[in-house]
Amino acid sequence: MFVILFGLSAGLRAQDGGASKPAAPAQPIAFNHKLHIQTAKLECNDCHESRGDGSTVSMPQPPKCMLCHASVATDKPDIQRLAAAAKNEDSIPWVRVYRVPSFVTFSHKTHTAAGNKCEECHGPVAERTAIALEHPTNMGSCIACHSAKQAPTGCDTCHGIMSKNGHSPFDADGVVLARLQVPSGKTSKSMVSGSSEERRLSAAEAFLHAPML
Ligand code: HEC
Ligand code: HEC
Ligand code: HEC
Ligand code: HEC
Ligand code: HEC
Repeated sequence: MFVILFGLSAGLRAQDGGASKPAAPAQPIAFNHKLHIQTAKLECNDCHESRGDGSTVSMPQPPKCMLCHASVATDKPDIQRLAAAAKNEDSIPWVRVYRVPSFVTFSHKTHTAAGNKCEECHGPVAERTAIALEHPTNMGSCIACHSAKQAPTGCDTCHGIMSKNGHSPFDADGVVLARLQVPSGKTSKSMVSGSSEERRLSAAEAFLHAPML
């Protein structure tokens, strides 16, 4: 009985303490999402506006913060540094938390337009005093959600950006399958869905070690 209770409380602690999650990196200014969303009543897109074609969102810079901090909490050292940066037209080098490599296609706009919520990929940001990587951005986690929501899982969905002369090296039906020596008739979809995470990983492994075309 004692053992069971102990196990249970350890489990609960791991859940709310996030013991197994990566820690939040130190930021140049200790920005607090919970305070700004719950107390200052700001919305995500007040600070993270859609940029360009909507693939990425912006990271806020001092002029935006100074809309309030020209008069709010001006005695705090962090706010004084913020004011100095605004005056010198410096930007704050926020330490990035979520990142995908350049050979991966990812767009915020298409994901939010399809009804995916910020929290599904970034956790309950409005409850957080600091941002940590709560959900991994690796290939397995992208594909897990795509499979669950019936979104496409062919290699070229996410790797089409590498395409040269209209040909993607990850082309689901052609080049990549030849390089992976997958028998014709098997689609990339059958490689990634089904039961076999292992087959997908070994496909990626084989791709990495295949000679460049
Ligand atoms: C809509 C107004 C508003 C905007 C815009 C705003 N803040 Fe704040 N901020 C507040 C309020 C309100 C507080 C709480 C002040 C207090 O506790 O006295 C605060 C507090 C802070 C603090 C002190 C936090 C603490 O724990 O004591 C920092 C640092 C801060 N803000 C940074 C920023 C940065 C960086 C930006 C821009 C990315 C920003 N703020 C934009 C309203 C705003
Ligand atoms: C007052 C401005 C402000 C608001 C409002 C705001 N953020 Fe942020 N956000 C920031 C700042 C500043 C950073 C960089 C510092 C940090 O990570 O805390 C950041 C960082 C992030 C990051 C990490 C980005 C990366 O990869 O490095 C995510 C994710 C994020 N915010 C999501 C949200 C979501 C979701 C909301 C709404 C629920 C929101 N933010 C509302 C200012 C804001
Ligand atoms: C389907 C998952 C997903 C959803 C939904 C999502 N994000 Fe992201 N977010 C990501 C990924 C992946 C990255 C890294 C993108 C990159 O490196 O280009 C990222 C990066 C960011 C960044 C850093 C700046 C950037 O564009 O790279 C911020 C800020 C952010 N997200 C905020 C938000 C907010 C606010 C929402 C809701 C309006 C949201 N995200 C919805 C997955 C998501
Ligand atoms: C929370 C669930 C979820 C996660 C996590 C997710 N996706 Fe998606 N993604 C979707 C859904 C749903 C669609 C279908 C959108 C549509 O049909 O309009 C989609 C569509 C796409 C598309 C095709 C549309 C476009 O933007 O060109 C790409 C590419 C894509 N996702 C890349 C990624 C990558 C890369 C990751 C991981 C970094 C990822 N997704 C993580 C749910 C998710
Ligand atoms: C839903 C999006 C998505 C799909 C579909 C997808 N990938 Fe990826 N892939 C990614 C992301 C995101 C990364 C970067 C992983 C990281 O940052 O760790 C990646 C990385 C890779 C890498 C680099 C090595 C590695 O394992 O990190 C290879 C090789 C690769 N993918 C091959 C493939 C092949 C082959 C397919 C089809 C069977 C495929 N990918 C389908 C999103 C996807």
